[in-house]
This record gives sequence, structure tokens and C-alpha cells, in this order.
Amino acid sequence: MSLSVAGDASIHADQTLLRRAVTNLLDNALRHAPAGSTVQVNLAGAGEEGGTCIRVVNAGPAIAPDVLPHIFGRFYRADPSRRNSASSTGLGLAIVDSIMRLHGGRASVSSSDGETVFSLLFPSGGDARPLAAA
Ligand SMILES: Nc1ncnc2c1ncn2[C@@H]1O[C@H](COP(=O)(O)OP(=O)(O)OP(=O)(O)O)[C@@H](O)[C@H]1O
Ligand SMILES: [Mg+2]
Repeated sequence: MSLSVAGDASIHADQTLLRRAVTNLLDNALRHAPAGSTVQVNLAGAGEEGGTCIRVVNAGPAIAPDVLPHIFGRFYRADPSRRNSASSTGLGLAIVDSIMRLHGGRASVSSSDGETVFSLLFPSGGDARPLAAA
């Protein structure tokens, strides 16, 4: 497995929480990506909305469209074989979602054509409110 990091951006965020959010996405990506593939981390401006986007992209079977709306829910595990797995709690993405809300941003996902993309959207500098809602 390879990891590529591309782009350049600055983010106003709590360092520990930012690290946790990215780690949770990488943990999932590395688990679901096929051997020999490249997991990508891309940093970029978030377009018209302003702010900054961190994207974690992995190859692998697309997540079913009916699963996507639930994927950030607590204890949600899409793969039946993981439902009773001791190594999976289904909390990783719920934590990512909470961290993004604490920063006044949001997490989103898209998955199709064998590629899954999780995006962390941070608002532009002055709007970030890490821990404000804790
Ligand atoms: N990159 C991905 N590709 C395919 N499916 C994914 C991906 N990331 C998450 N999922 C699906 O979403 C479910 C929820 O992910 P989440 O990180 O919340 O829980 P988990 O990985 O099962 O457990 P935990 O992160 O608590 O160890 C996973 O069980 C998996 O089915
Ligand atoms: Mg996880």
C-alpha cells in the first residue's frame, strides 16, 4: 500500500482533534483499499464556499448509496462481518463528524466507480471555532 499527500493548505484547528479525524479516515481507507493501491490525502481550498478541504481517497468497492446517509452515525458498521468484530466499534466516523462540527465545518463522503472520498471541510480561518461547542 502506498500513501500520497498532495496540496498545500493552512487550517485553523485543534491539533489533537485534527490528527484524530485524519487518523480515523486513514485507518478506514487502509482497511478497505486493495493491496498495492495508493491511498491519497489531498489538501485544497474548498472552492466558492471558502475554507479548506482535506480529502482522503481510497480505491475499493463503492459503498452502497443506501449506506452513505448512515455512515457517520454512532456504532454504524456497513460490513456485516464487522458487526461483532472486537476490532471495530463503528465509532470512528461518528468521532470525525463530531470533530468537524466542533470546528464549524463538516464531514462528507462520496463513493462510486471503485473510489471512496471522505472530505473534511474546514471553514475559513476566522470562522473556525474549535472546542467552542464542547
Ligand atoms: N474508506 C471506506 N471504504 C469502504 N467502507 C468504509 C470506509 N470507511 C468506512 N467504511 C464503512 O463505514 C463503517 C463505519 O466506519 P467507522 O470508522 O465509523 O467504524 P469502523 O471502522 O467499523 O470501526 P472503528 O473506526 O470504530 O474502529 C465501516 O464499518 C465500514 O463498513
Ligand atoms: Mg473506522
